[in-house]
Amino acid sequence: MNMGFSKDFLWGGATAANQCEGAWNIDGKGDSICDHMRGGGVNTPRVFDMEILPDKYYPSHDAIDFYHHYKEDIAMLGEMGFKVFRLSIAWSRIFPKGNEEKPNEAGLAFYDNVFDECRKYGIKPLVTLSHFEMPFYLAKEYNGFSDKRVVDYFVHYATTVMERYKDKVSYWLTFNEINFATLPFGNQNVLGILHTDEKGNVVRSLDDEKMRYQALHNVFLASAKTVIEGRKINPSFQFGCMIAHVTMYPLTPNPEDILLVQQKDNHINNFCGDVQVKGEYPDFMIQYLKNKDIDVPYKEDAQLLKDGTVDFYTFSYYSSNCVTVDKAKEKTSGNVLGGVKNPYLQVSDWGWQIDPKGLRYVLNKLNDRYGVPLMIVENGLGAADQIDETGQVLDDYRIEYLKEHIKVMEEAINDGVKLIGYTMWGCIDLISAGTGEMKKRYGFIYVDRDNEGKGSLMRKKKKSFYWYKQVIASNGENY
Ligand code: BG6
Repeated sequence: MNMGFSKDFLWGGATAANQCEGAWNIDGKGDSICDHMRGGGVNTPRVFDMEILPDKYYPSHDAIDFYHHYKEDIAMLGEMGFKVFRLSIAWSRIFPKGNEEKPNEAGLAFYDNVFDECRKYGIKPLVTLSHFEMPFYLAKEYNGFSDKRVVDYFVHYATTVMERYKDKVSYWLTFNEINFATLPFGNQNVLGILHTDEKGNVVRSLDDEKMRYQALHNVFLASAKTVIEGRKINPSFQFGCMIAHVTMYPLTPNPEDILLVQQKDNHINNFCGDVQVKGEYPDFMIQYLKNKDIDVPYKEDAQLLKDGTVDFYTFSYYSSNCVTVDKAKEKTSGNVLGGVKNPYLQVSDWGWQIDPKGLRYVLNKLNDRYGVPLMIVENGLGAADQIDETGQVLDDYRIEYLKEHIKVMEEAINDGVKLIGYTMWGCIDLISAGTGEMKKRYGFIYVDRDNEGKGSLMRKKKKSFYWYKQVIASNGENY
């Protein structure tokens, strides 16, 4: 018998504060690390300025101004029939520097309004507590989570908001794409570590592996403590981890390629999932740290990690890549994670390989490994949508992408996977995290704004808006 989507399946969409709110210094908000990043492009890395320069453009400063448009935007999500809306709280809107004792009331009031608006339409908020947006002060003065005091500051922030919204929010994710911290790329985004060169410029490619793993351990502690404290505040809270699932296939049947995939999959995907879901460091990681002479107090903190495990596993899924020991193979572009081209797959305009079937593989793999409910909290297609001469945005390519992914979700459910929800990424156009562009659009709703920050901010429903509305209305029967 075909199971299909359960009647309480959580259909919805996802955003992050720094990519949509704007109002970066309004009503007492402090600057976050994102507010120091200029826009870039597919082949132009974003520049990080320690000082915000008056003649430079920082996309997060205004973004799509969700801060002033939230009523209009949430009304449109309601019109699509959203059951759930994933958004993040900007930590620096609540604690501008990050280490204050008292929260900023105006910041707290803003999210009260947002959650009240969601409630009007029967939309459940799914709140990410940290989505790459640490208060800049903590990054500058403490080097982020490399300093254990930042664990306490985070837990203070998390308990403040969980206390405040205990009757308005039930679903919480602690750290967005925490596993990026297993790669140098995660130094800045996840850990708030700013490595600078001799000229004082923040350089993303600089790394200190020991510091990175010790800081990641501190993030695990912050997550576990948040879960423990959250359950005291409201025992019915549900917590999730959030892992960027980096899907890798061996390029060839060469056993060396198979082994390489296994090692990378363990390191990049399984490590963080195991700590947050099973509450323990996996053997391969313990050995890796030992081999590298990196001292991490996982034994001392074992009980805390066990007590602070999450209830469900959430992840992002966009694409897949191949892995090989053959260094001569051509790499895919536009993706921080690199990887080798898969001859069977097409790529997006930003070089991300499109692989719906891979999602079925991943869902089954995660279901086997963890056995807890799964939720896909990011999936979508970044494309340079245009308003045509009739005033419409006909994004059939996006509909096609999402359709193929929803189809395999259904197949995975019929394989026995416990999938409880789906929040499509960037349900309203927002600025890209990777490139800072507005041009890389994901939304069901178009926003009139360009890469230079010009545009009326007018919202327009795309063709995919009406398509997703009927997907939700039919509970995934008509996709
Ligand atoms: C995820 C992030 O990595 O991918 C989002 O959690 C991000 O913040 C999304 O926007 C898509 O990536 P990009 O670079 O296209 O914005």
